[in-house]
Amino acid sequence: MSEGRGKIIVVGEHGVVYGRPAIAASIARGVGARARPSEDVGLDVERWGVHLSLPRDAADSDLGRAFAALLESYAGQSGTPRLRVEVRPDLPPGAGLGCSAAMGVAIVRALDEATGSPPRSSEEVAERSLIWERVFHGNPSGIDSAMAAGAGIAIFEKGKALIPIRARRPLYWVIGDSGEASATRLMVEEVARQHVRDPARIEKTFDAMEALVRNARLAIEQGDTKGLGQLLDMNQLLLGGLMVSTQRLEEMCDAARRAGALGAKLTGAGGGGCMIALAKDPEDAARIRDALGLIAKDAFVVDTGA
Ligand code: MEV
Repeated sequence: MSEGRGKIIVVGEHGVVYGRPAIAASIARGVGARARPSEDVGLDVERWGVHLSLPRDAADSDLGRAFAALLESYAGQSGTPRLRVEVRPDLPPGAGLGCSAAMGVAIVRALDEATGSPPRSSEEVAERSLIWERVFHGNPSGIDSAMAAGAGIAIFEKGKALIPIRARRPLYWVIGDSGEASATRLMVEEVARQHVRDPARIEKTFDAMEALVRNARLAIEQGDTKGLGQLLDMNQLLLGGLMVSTQRLEEMCDAARRAGALGAKLTGAGGGGCMIALAKDPEDAARIRDALGLIAKDAFVVDTGA
């Protein structure tokens, strides 16, 4: 199966929509996709009970619209390719882990393979998958798609190539899913409204986030996990100021810190979805996961290798 990966944003979400840098890491969970020739052109996501046929279902849902737009981009002299795509997501949707972007990337790779398209670089795959992602998110920075197509931990800045970060040591993260739906589009619009009302305040917040990103990069390169944890906490305060956190996410971050996390914050657009907590080592990570498991919909450990 072709693959697209999920991601966590370590620091810098929202500012990244306004051209500021952010740090993100691909995680080992993602989405698989496979395309096969079929007269019944469409998309199957068995896990979600979704079975779409085109053109009938092309306009009824974001999934239908995104798939139709992406498939159309492969139209050649003999028309739109007659393919059916099977998708297997292993990420919660609408939870800030980049499920839709991972899906877009996996489908681009599956369509490339089935149509015999010339090989594309990760950047080109991410770029093509934005046709899909824009249907879901209106104004995506592209960070989710870049990480879905790439690997490791990296600095992302809109319109620029990813800059990989060389981590001095592996980082152990606990991801907690609040179970509250997070709509990236709405959260990005909420910040945009605040930016129109009070640009100076929001730009100041983004300045502070950018400083956190610079320091977080150094902390990761130097293996200073304690320092990195403090930067996560500061980022969470700034995100709270943008009003994209929720009471539940705050409770989960507090619970993670009480269980020994070096720092914790929401990840992705906020308004619900997931939070991340940085653990000192795999044993601490398991303890934090267990503590979060008592209040979260789901909690699991991922490591971003050195
Ligand atoms: C994406 O996971 C998080 C946001 O920064 C939106 C974007 O970058 O497209 C809020």
